[in-house]
Order: sequence, then structure tokens, then C-alpha cells
Amino acid sequence: MTFMQRLGAAAGLIEQRLSELLAECGPEKGERLADAMEHALLGGGKRFRPFLVVETARLFDVVPDKAMDAGAAFECVHCYSLAHDDLPAMDDDDLRRGRPTVHKAFDEWTAILAGDALLTLAFEIMSRQGTHPDAAVRSELTRLLAHAAGGRGMVLGQMLDLAADKRGEPAAPTIGHVQRLQALKTGALLAAACEAGAVLGGATGEMRAAVRRYGEHLGLAFQIADDLLDAEGDAETVGKATGKDHAAGKATLVSLLGIEAARARLEDAVRGAERELAPFGDKAATLIEAARFTASRGH
Ligand code: IPE
Ligand code: IPE
Ligand code: MG
Ligand code: MG
Ligand code: MG
Repeated sequence: MTFMQRLGAAAGLIEQRLSELLAECGPEKGERLADAMEHALLGGGKRFRPFLVVETARLFDVVPDKAMDAGAAFECVHCYSLAHDDLPAMDDDDLRRGRPTVHKAFDEWTAILAGDALLTLAFEIMSRQGTHPDAAVRSELTRLLAHAAGGRGMVLGQMLDLAADKRGEPAAPTIGHVQRLQALKTGALLAAACEAGAVLGGATGEMRAAVRRYGEHLGLAFQIADDLLDAEGDAETVGKATGKDHAAGKATLVSLLGIEAARARLEDAVRGAERELAPFGDKAATLIEAARFTASRGH
């Protein structure tokens, strides 16, 4: 099986599980809120964060089935973040995953509330007994997700990103500033998804730290690839509007460094990710391919 086939197969399983969890824990079918949550959560997306949870858990001999719900919780947070990111008050986007964004398919207030409900659903899923039999592990997973998603993680990253966009702050963004912003808005959740696999597998100390560092490198690579796609991709293939960062005069590594240097940084980050997994030997083959996949997206 090629890497893309494996990612696609995992996405199918995760989609199925997300649909079950939404039916079990979400609002009743037929409610407008249920329809909007379904629109935000199901029908598209690479499901890369749950894939990372499943694959990092596998490093510690956890079977995919036992990592699926933790992965689903990460995807709920991710999908909420996209529904809100697309709102007129934020990036004002009409297209996501090749379909109308939630506020276009419904309206703004419904998109806000569907996002709120997906964020809270994530924590309900993470704390359910089925996610892991040991309450201490569930609690650690919950803390990890909350920390990555919140005011020291993704939300802070979004805040810095929008402060730059809407308020022009800081007036002259440095590479360091952009990297910090990106590490928060994209890297935090990706790194925590990787670390969650280690937590599910009962890993501590250096093994857990190495998997986290892999996720941090991957997060940087992932956002540079996203910025390259914005600069060079077309909406048809990417499934969302492109050329927006440039039009908005947004500071990204692509705008600060140029395409070639940004790509070199992307390759560097991928090498960094690979390096962290060297101690795991052959077991890490899929995760190494995942890092390379990230880089290939940016081409
Ligand atoms: C898009 O994430 C937003 C970023 C953090 C760059 P993905 O590229 O993972 O989007 P989906 O889930 O596959 O649609
Ligand atoms: C969003 O970054 C990252 C989130 C936390 C949602 P972008 O605004 O670049 O993501 P896209 O390009 O809309 O997917
Ligand atoms: Mg944004
Ligand atoms: Mg956006
Ligand atoms: Mg983008």
C-alpha cells in the first residue's frame, strides 16, 4: 500500500467513527445544530491529526482501534477551528474542503455555535471511558488537548495571526515572530496529536519527548506547505481559496523569505522530523513517510 492509500484508508475509518460519535454524543438528528456540525465535521479533510495519533500510538504497540477515539477528539477541535477560521470576522472564506464553508451553507451564528459544540464534543469524547480504560491516561490526554487548543496554543496562534492581518501588528514581523505564530496556530495541535499517541501507549520520558519534537518539526513543515499551496496552488486542487495570503499582504515564511528559501526551510523541518524518529527504527517508517508527504504537498 502506498502512503496515500494508507492515509485514505485511515481517513475512511476515522470518518466512520466521527459519524458514530456525533450520533451518540451530538444533538439529535434533524436539529439545525446537528446538520451544521455534520457539515463541519464530515465529508472531506485529510484527517491528518487522527492519523498521527493512530500512527504514533502504533510505535508503542497500541492497535489503531484503541487510538481512534482520541484521534477523533483532535479532529473535532480541528474542524471547529476551521469553521471559526473561515468566518467573515476572521479569514472570510467561502470554500473549504471543496464545499461551502459552514457559514455559507448555514449562517454565521450557526457556524459559531456548531464550532462551539464541536470544541466541547472533543472533550466529551476524550473523557469517555472508551477512549482509554485508565482514567489517569484520559485525564492526561484531556489536559494535552486543552493546552494545545487554548490560550497558550492554537487560539493564541490565531490571535497573533489575525492581529497581524487586521491590525498590522507587529508593524515589521520578523521570521521569529512568524515562526512562533505558526508553531502555535498549527504546530501546537499537530505536536499534541503526536504526543497523544505516546500517552496512549504509556510512553514517558525521552520516548514521549522525541515523538513530540517530531510533531513540532512536522507542524512547521505543514504550515509552510499550506502557505506554499496558498501561493502556488489552485482552488480546484486545494479545495479552498488560494492567493489570499499574498492579496492580504500577510506575513508568512513564503512572503518573508521567498518561495525557494521557504521550501528549503520546509525540507529542513522534514529532516528534523525524521531525525527525531531514528531511535524507533523501522517501526517509524509510516511516520517518516508522513513527514515527506507534508513536504510533497508544498510542491
Ligand atoms: C488546514 O488544515 C489548516 C491548517 C492548519 C493549515 P488541513 O490541511 O489539515 O485541512 P484538512 O483537515 O485536510 O481539510
Ligand atoms: C488556520 O490557518 C489554522 C487554524 C488554526 C484554523 P489558515 O487560515 O492558513 O488555514 P486555511 O488556509 O484557512 O486552511
Ligand atoms: Mg486563518
Ligand atoms: Mg484560513
Ligand atoms: Mg492557509
